[in-house]
Parts: sequence; structure tokens; C-alpha cells
Amino acid sequence: MDQFLITGTGRISGEVTISGAKNAALPLLAAMILAETPTTLHNVPSLQDVTTLIKLISGMGIVISKEGNTVTCNTKTIDSFYAPYDLVKTMRASILVLGPLLARFGEAEVSLPGGCAIGSRPVDQHLQAFEAMGAEIIVENGYVKAKAPKGGKLIGCEYSFDMVTVGGTENVIMAAALAKGTTRLENCAREPEVVDLANMLVAMGAKIDGIGTANMTIEGVESLHGCEYSVVPDRIETGSYLAGALMTEGDVLTKHTRPELLLPVLKKFEAMGAVITTGEDWIRAQMKGRPLPVDIRTQPHPGFPTDMQAQLMAVCCLADGTSTIIENIFENRYMHVPELERMGANIKVDGHTAIVKGVEKFEAAPVMATDLRASMSLVMAAATAEGKSLIDRIYHIDRGYEDVENKLRGLGVKIERVSNKD
Ligand code: UD1
Repeated sequence: MDQFLITGTGRISGEVTISGAKNAALPLLAAMILAETPTTLHNVPSLQDVTTLIKLISGMGIVISKEGNTVTCNTKTIDSFYAPYDLVKTMRASILVLGPLLARFGEAEVSLPGGCAIGSRPVDQHLQAFEAMGAEIIVENGYVKAKAPKGGKLIGCEYSFDMVTVGGTENVIMAAALAKGTTRLENCAREPEVVDLANMLVAMGAKIDGIGTANMTIEGVESLHGCEYSVVPDRIETGSYLAGALMTEGDVLTKHTRPELLLPVLKKFEAMGAVITTGEDWIRAQMKGRPLPVDIRTQPHPGFPTDMQAQLMAVCCLADGTSTIIENIFENRYMHVPELERMGANIKVDGHTAIVKGVEKFEAAPVMATDLRASMSLVMAAATAEGKSLIDRIYHIDRGYEDVENKLRGLGVKIERVSNKD
């Protein structure tokens, strides 16, 4: 298993080019299943999760391949509507093939997902909405078996999500795009990645109103065609690298990104004392002195994103004072806390709340990455600490950050990938 050996250098500074968003690329790849003619997707990050989804889709007989950051897909030869446990278990987003398969082919059999260990993360909302569209859903032997009503077409419905769910909204809008009649959805997720998917569906011929709002109306069409589309920049990757500047009195310029995608994060960075400057496709964070403490509550977009919670916590660990963090989205998303504590942080967790008392510096230590985003908080902490830190289980980080070592090196981080033969 690979590990990162990081020698703290003290200052994170330089330029970094941001990749396409993992969380947008995955639903966009799933949406390719809906198109009757070939689709081309640009700015697709080279990540383990993307490889997994491409493997899953090609297992259905679809011709799909990735060259550089471009994926092309032709669904003409599809001969299976099945997503096996072996692949799905490594990535929860695999459930996103369910909506497209069911809507276009009238049937699907998809393993229940695994993914990050950050809570139980059920898919009841996805399934309830499909049932509301007339699908017959059976969950047995770890698989979801879904069938469209007689005639093979889902039927437009009115559905209100019980909670804001990103994947649920994505799955259901893909299905509704090919349903018979109109689907009215309430309490939809408004994340930029949901908007990106809706925009691609429109480019494929879908009729969607209310994109970017909590209420979307989708008028089903007979068929969707291929298109050429480019994945939105990764707001979480952007925020993760900028956070490095705040921890080290650094100066980080992120390029090929979009400031409007991460306003709630940039606001917190400013509250912590950073000078943030932006252009149309770049953001720069400059920091002098220790960060100021802040209070953070994770919330659905446009609130503070849960995917930035661990990275912001790492900044709070070095703040001049006490910060409070409340995690509202996932029940088990503080697994990075004991690891940050091993590096000298002072954090008390009580249920969903973490009280972070700032310390002057992190200490180098061997630590373990626990989930995708948490891994980055440890990498950044190690980069600021004096001495060598060994980070284990970095397969988590490979799932979500493209070319991470080179990008970090470009910011002055001394990082090596080493193989642990154990
Ligand atoms: C997506 C993101 C993930 C991010 C999360 C929240 C992808 C690939 N992943 O995950 O990085 O952290 O949004 O912004 O885009 N829930 C239910 N029932 C459901 C669906 C969700 O109870 O049917 C709950 C979940 O357990 C969780 C909350 O709703 O507590 C939000 O989950 P959701 O927005 O669906 O997250 P994902 O789409 O899995």
C-alpha cells in the first residue's frame, strides 16, 4: 500500500492548476448512458473514481474510453444493465447509473453502494423517487433491482426530497429527463455539480426548468442525443490548496477555477485573515500571521461545504484562539480528529460539534488517512510541521485529487510516494 512521506517546509506558496471536479465528472459520465449518439466529455480528472466508473460503464457493453482528460462514449452496443458489487463497493457514486439505465432501458440491477466510511449514507431518497415515477424496486441480496412500469418508460411525478441530497437529485433528474410527462421536484440540491449535470442534460436535449434552485421541473423527452461538454472546475480541490496558504503564511494562486463556486469558503478564509483576490478563472490567497478563529457549520450549497470541513479544521488547529465546527451533513465525519491530534492539535468532539483550540504548530507524526477529504487535511498539516510525517492509506487521496504530488511540489511541499510492502 502506498504512503506519503512529507517533510515539512513551513511555507505553502506558488501556483496550481485546478482539475475538473470529481463530483461533477461522475454524474456526467453516468449521464452519457442516456445519449443515443456519441458524447465527448472534456476536463475529466484522472482519478481512481473516474477509472472505476468507466470500468463499470464499459462492463455494460458500452464503448467508453479516456485519453488524457477527454472521455468519449458510444452506447450503441450496450448489452447489460448490471452494476456488480465488486466495482460499486469502492465508490458510492456508482448508484448514479441506476437512474439513466432505468429511464432509457426500463430496467437495471445495481449493487447497493459502499464508498467513504463517513456515515451510513443510505439511498432511500433515490429509490423512493423512482417508485414515485412508477418503477418497481426490489432490494435483495445487496442489489437494487428496478423495473420501469409497463411500456418500459418511467412516468413524470411530483416528488419532494426529505433532505437535500446531491446524488439523489442527480439520479432523479437524469431519470426524469426521459420519463413520460412532467416531473416536479422540490427540495433539490443546488450544488454547482448538480447544476453542471443539468446543463449537460440540456445540451443533450433535455428540458429542465429551475436549474440551480430547489425546485426543478423536468419535461420528459422521447430521446437524448450526444453532446460535447466540459466538466466544471473542482471547487473542493481549489479550496484545499488555498487552505495551505492560510496555514503557513503562504501565497497560493489557483488557476482554471471559478471563484463563484466557492464563495462560502472564500468568505471564511477572509474571516480568518487571508487576503483573497479573484479574477474570472483564478483565486489567490495571501496570508500573514496566524489565522483568526472562526465558527463553521456545514450545510447544503450555498452553505459551507462538508467536503471542506476537514481542511478548514486543519487551518483552525493553527488559529490564534478557539474555533467551533458543526458538521450537519454526515454523522461520522470527524475521523480525521484523532489523526490531527496525533500531530499536536487540540480538538474536543461532542456529537456533531468540534471545539478546536488553536496551537502554534503541528508536530510531524505517522498518521492514517481516513477518508478522501480528510486525507488532505493531514497532508497540509504534515507540510507545515517540522520533520517527517508518514501518511498511510493514501488510496483515499488518489480517489479525489488529480496529480496531487506534482501539484503539491509546485507549491513547495516536499512529498514522496513510498511503497509499504506490509
Ligand atoms: C455528494 C458528494 C460528497 C459530498 C456530499 C454532500 C459526490 C460523488 N459526492 O455525496 O462528496 O460530501 O454530496 O455534499 O458528489 N441521504 C439519505 N438518503 C438518501 C440520500 C442521502 O439519508 O437517499 C443523506 C446522507 O446519508 C447524508 C446526506 O443525506 O447524510 C447528504 O448526502 P448526499 O447529498 O446524497 O451525498 P452524496 O450524493 O452521497
